Amino acid sequence: MSPERRAVSIAGRPRVAILISGRGSNMAALIDAAPALGYEVALVFSNVVDAPGLAVAAAAGVATAALDHRGHGGRAAFDAKVDAILAAHDIRYVALAGYMRLLSDPFVAAWAGRMLNIHPSLLPSFTGLDTHARAIAAGCRVAGCTVHFVTGELDGGPIVAQAAVPVLEEDTAETLAARILAEEHRIYPLALAALCAGRLRIAGQRVLGG
Ligand code: GRF
Repeated sequence: MSPERRAVSIAGRPRVAILISGRGSNMAALIDAAPALGYEVALVFSNVVDAPGLAVAAAAGVATAALDHRGHGGRAAFDAKVDAILAAHDIRYVALAGYMRLLSDPFVAAWAGRMLNIHPSLLPSFTGLDTHARAIAAGCRVAGCTVHFVTGELDGGPIVAQAAVPVLEEDTAETLAARILAEEHRIYPLALAALCAGRLRIAGQRVLGG
C-alpha cells in the first residue's frame, strides 16, 4: 500500500514524527496544536536517550523512541535504523525540532518533500549555529525564524514560513532567542499543518501555497 493510503490515523489525520535532541519546546508546541490543526503526532524520536523533551512527549500521551547515534557504524547506518523506527510507526511526515544531527543523503531522499525543519534565523542568512549572537554582531535590525523543507544542503531547503522580530539595542543572544522562540512556536504548527493538508507545492527553491 502506498504511504498516501496508509499513514493516517483512524480519524484520518496524517501521522507525524517529531525528531528532537533536547528540551523540545517546538515539539511541545507541535503536539499542543495538533488537535486543532488536523495532524497527529504519532511519535517523538530522539538520538539523545535522556533528552528532556522525551518526558514531555510521554506526559502528553505521545509514543516515544530513542536511540543513541553512537556506535552504529556511520551516519547512514544510524539513519537507516531511524527510518525503520519511523516505518514501524507508520509515519508520513517528519518534523525536525532541535534535532542536532546532520542527515545522510539516503534519509533526506527518502523523506524529500515530507520533512520540515525549524531554524532560528531568517534564512538564507545565518545558517548553522549561534544564529542569535551572529545576527546581533552583524547589526541586524530584524531577526527571526524559518520553517523549511529539508534537503541535502544544511538549512538550505525551500522556505515554507518565516517570522521576523525586532532586534533591540539591549538584546543579548538569550533575550533575542526567547523572542524568536515564541515565533517559532507560532509558525511551526501552521507550516506543518499546511504540509499535512497537501497545501504546499515546491517549485524550485520556492514553496507555493500555505
Ligand atoms: C530552536 O531554536 C530551533 O529553531 C533550533 O533548535 C532549537 C530547538 O529548541 N532548530 P527546542 O528544543 O524546540 O526548545
